Amino acid sequence: MKKESLVSITDYTQEDILHFLKKAELFEANPNRKLLEGKVCATLFFEPSTRTRLSFETAVNRLGGRIIGFSDAATTSSSKGEILKDTIRMVSNYADLIIMRHYLEGAARYASEITKVPIINAGDGANQHPSQTLLDIYSIYKTQGKLDHLQITIVGDLKYGRTVHSLLVGMSHFNPTFHFVAPEELKIPDVYKIFCDTHHLEYHEHTDFSEAVINQSDILYMTRVQRERFTDLMEYEKVKNIYILRNSMLDNSKDNLKILHPLPRVNEIACDVDDNPKAYFIEQAKNGVFARQAIICEALGIEVD
Ligand code: CP
Repeated sequence: MKKESLVSITDYTQEDILHFLKKAELFEANPNRKLLEGKVCATLFFEPSTRTRLSFETAVNRLGGRIIGFSDAATTSSSKGEILKDTIRMVSNYADLIIMRHYLEGAARYASEITKVPIINAGDGANQHPSQTLLDIYSIYKTQGKLDHLQITIVGDLKYGRTVHSLLVGMSHFNPTFHFVAPEELKIPDVYKIFCDTHHLEYHEHTDFSEAVINQSDILYMTRVQRERFTDLMEYEKVKNIYILRNSMLDNSKDNLKILHPLPRVNEIACDVDDNPKAYFIEQAKNGVFARQAIICEALGIEVD
């Protein structure tokens, strides 16, 4: 695998993904390795984040690197009108690696084309969130002991949810059956249904979030409705609480079921689910540190023993 930037999970083969998982396992066994001494990593977050930014920064810190960057673009010269091209070329003068989140779809791809410094896409609009996908797949592998032939139910905002779009593509290498649960307004976009058809992936669309769907699932991937992507907030109000997972709905679920969520959660998982051993979303976020250590080292061409 010789790709420096991580822009889209569509650029990665099954073998590439398994390579990341093996590296993540090594970092989970020992996260404190001084592999980034002398390296500076920049985190440029043009949209809010808790987990992605802090887990990338933890990953760098545990590897002995240094961090520069911003978590609020309003404090930077982009608020004075600086264009993304200039920001990226400036930060390329200072850092060995750029981790960026941007509200525009394609922003990370564009950045990777105008700098020699590797770019890691930490989310671009409603498009892709590939580092989330690698930690999601790592979480699926850890909890299921395999990746092939799983029943994966994805619930919520399938239209705007970039984690959904990336996960679908990433898991497509492992012959899943997908169950897409969404209201009409937030259905999985046609482009992803065409993708499933092209790759001979079985999928089913549902508007009811029923126990019948839950009970056949190995993975239940809940997502929040993405308020920030709506142009009409009245439309958001109509769908924001459409599906809520409650503990009682899990009574007849499979023993191996795990509940994932990229987080943040709003209302879509009731707090009574938190103590159920099938709830895995907090551990999932912890796995982000190990997956992101693997991603950073791969981007910088650093071998891990
Ligand atoms: N999963 C995720 O992207 O979370 P944050 O928005 O907190 O980074």
